[in-house]
Amino acid sequence: MTEYLRLVRRGWWILVLAAVGGAGCALLVTASMPVRYAATVSMMIDQKGSADPLSQQRVKSYARLVTSRRVLLDVAVAEYLDPGALAGNVRAEAVPGTVLLRAIVTDSDPVRAARVANRIGGELSGLIHTLEKRSAIRVTVIDPATPPMLPVSPRPRLNAAAGILLGLVFAYGFLMLRSRLDTTVADSDDLAAAIGAPTLGIIGRDRRPPLIVSGSSPRAEAIRALRTNLQFVGVDGRPRSLLVTSCGTGEGKSTLAINLALAVAQTGWRVALVDADLRRPSIAGYLGVDGSMGLTDVLIGSARLPEALQRWRDIDVLPSGRVPSNPSELAGSPGMHRVMSDLTADHDLVIVDAPPLLPVTDASVLALACDGVLLVARAGRTRRDALAQAAGQLERIRARVVGGVLNFAPVRPRSPYPESRMTFH
Ligand SMILES: Nc1ncnc2c1ncn2[C@@H]1O[C@H](COP(=O)(O)OP(=O)(O)OP(=O)(O)O)[C@@H](O)[C@H]1O
Ligand SMILES: [Mg+2]
Repeated sequence: MTEYLRLVRRGWWILVLAAVGGAGCALLVTASMPVRYAATVSMMIDQKGSADPLSQQRVKSYARLVTSRRVLLDVAVAEYLDPGALAGNVRAEAVPGTVLLRAIVTDSDPVRAARVANRIGGELSGLIHTLEKRSAIRVTVIDPATPPMLPVSPRPRLNAAAGILLGLVFAYGFLMLRSRLDTTVADSDDLAAAIGAPTLGIIGRDRRPPLIVSGSSPRAEAIRALRTNLQFVGVDGRPRSLLVTSCGTGEGKSTLAINLALAVAQTGWRVALVDADLRRPSIAGYLGVDGSMGLTDVLIGSARLPEALQRWRDIDVLPSGRVPSNPSELAGSPGMHRVMSDLTADHDLVIVDAPPLLPVTDASVLALACDGVLLVARAGRTRRDALAQAAGQLERIRARVVGGVLNFAPVRPRSPYPESRMTFH
């Protein structure tokens, strides 16, 4: 999709607001404009006793007479009008290719407009009769002016259209400026472009408790859509273990890891969830399970894996255990690879919750122990360049980014679901 359409899709409500505002302003201005009516009188010029039609040049010169002082002064006096103002309201034109002349008078009063136009017709024929006695030129009113029903100005529809257009132009300019200045990821296109991998899920901002419980909540729907998209990942071998990470903190990695584990387990798969965030573990806290023994204990050899695994609902959970002094070292240890291969042997999918990628190296080394990486981004907060940097970092160590998940996506008004369109680049 082109950049222009993306801007429109993202800011459509600003455009609608600007169009309505533009139309409203135009109508307000229109309402304060004076109402003007135009009356037209048509006259024919001919020469008595001559079969030849008059030259266009001649008709044009008579048209000029219409706005002359000699004609307008008498009309102004008769109508109690200011001659100068009247001159500004009278226009004359020779109808091209004919011997017809038209005088158009605009006025705030439709009846007076018609009366003035007809008086001009009379004055002109009288004047020409006097001036052209010898050449026997006549001016005949063939179509007298009648009071117009509709005003010529203001034109509400035209003004409203101009207002809408102006509003749209300004709003579009604003959207362009905003997108130039905003460096954060806003939608699935941004995310996919930044990480060079498809956006597999979009989860709306949701104030309710973070773990999915009901099958019909928007978050549950979104997680199920992500689960479905993950099934199509990896034609050359389905990933058996997935690392969930993001650029920075608080972007929703841990809650997504838990919810995804729950959703996958619902399909009957054996799922393990590992809290590999050894610095700020949170899985045990979210699930309300005892987190005193876990991954670190297995890695340092003080516990065996089956002892540390806990059953919670339909998933096997490995909490992080005690916070160690050397988390990166532990995450990259051969023991970690062993834990992963043991878990993948007994499970259909192992989901690993990791610390953020950019501040510490833990997530990068953990990525090497997993088959694929799911990159979470927070709409309106995660920067596009940070995502590109994270994806580049993973690419350099040959970790496989299977896709991105846009979290905290703005939820459209009147729709309980976030935008459901996924983008595959
Ligand atoms: N879609 C969402 N809508 C609203 N709040 C959310 C959403 N996803 C996560 N949160 C909230 O954001 C906070 C951080 O979530 P979470 O702990 O999953 O992030 P994290 O990336 O794992 O953080 P950390 O970097 O500290 O490990 C939590 O309070 C969680 O409830
Ligand atoms: Mg976390």
